Amino acid sequence: MTTATARAHPNIALVKYWGKRDEQLMLPAAGSLSLTLDAYATTTTVSLDASAAEDRFTLGGTTATAGQTEQVVRFLDLVRARADSSAHAVVDSHNEAPTGAGLASSASGFAALAVAAAAAYDLDLDRADLSRLARRGSGSATRSLVAGLGIWHAGDDDASSFAEPIEGPEMSMIIVTVDPGQKKVSSREGMRRTAATSPYYPGWVDSTARSLEEMSAACRAGDFTRVGEITESNALRMHAAIEACEPPIRYLRSASVAVFDAVEQLRARSIEAYATADAGPNVVVIARPADAAAVADHLAGHGDVRIVGAGPGAHLITTEES
Ligand code: DP6
Repeated sequence: MTTATARAHPNIALVKYWGKRDEQLMLPAAGSLSLTLDAYATTTTVSLDASAAEDRFTLGGTTATAGQTEQVVRFLDLVRARADSSAHAVVDSHNEAPTGAGLASSASGFAALAVAAAAAYDLDLDRADLSRLARRGSGSATRSLVAGLGIWHAGDDDASSFAEPIEGPEMSMIIVTVDPGQKKVSSREGMRRTAATSPYYPGWVDSTARSLEEMSAACRAGDFTRVGEITESNALRMHAAIEACEPPIRYLRSASVAVFDAVEQLRARSIEAYATADAGPNVVVIARPADAAAVADHLAGHGDVRIVGAGPGAHLITTEES
């Protein structure tokens, strides 16, 4: 029996991924760019069990839901097909972030699973291949293979749609958890509905492709101000496209909007901070590391506030034969 354990961290996108052009291969409608965090890790162990009749998945020590298990089994099927193996596996995963609270735990989850499963099934994959594999589990997981800032190329096909590192200015992220609860509409469902019903979806996809080019240039130039401006406008464009769905979806609550207001106040006082939010009510603020403590102080009344920095890409911790 082979056992492998891997660890991965979530990432927060500065240019968001919202929409797929191929659901089967999980190819995104546009590229995206993110920062992998140094907090909220997922640690996953995959143990092959040749005598087991089916895969088993535990999350945080308890049996996962049928839906979660089905996603993991489908992912393991892809790995088994590549490895030419029929062995089932026991997957044990621990998240340091609350699942579903918009802290992208599906990103760290599938990035850790990709690395652990590839090692357990003895696949010889490089970092780009692992990023492509993680993509098949959850789009945002593609980027958690990369340390720090990573760009996920939309690509032309399966082979060219992966993430790689990009240089950029140093930044801290201030995570403002205004509501730790589970989100009501999953990203996957929200994306489908936006693509199918939002009149702004084509504009969102076009503008994101352009924002990504501009963001890449701003990152390479180390231009924190431009990085921040593009981050905030890209997030608001995504939420505008989402809110225009039928039936509408609103991930941002009044408490979230209040954080965007507070960030604007900071800028009026010449503290450069910019806000973004994923498919949930929580807000993530970027700032230069030297300003992070002042930004966190200013936002303290809005919820639980935590300062995080750039973290490592998904990596293997141990492998064992028994
Ligand atoms: C708003 O990667 O969770 O966080 O690919 O369907 O699993 P699936 O979706 P997921 O969506 C992430 C959406 C986002 C933006 C981002 O991380 O780029």
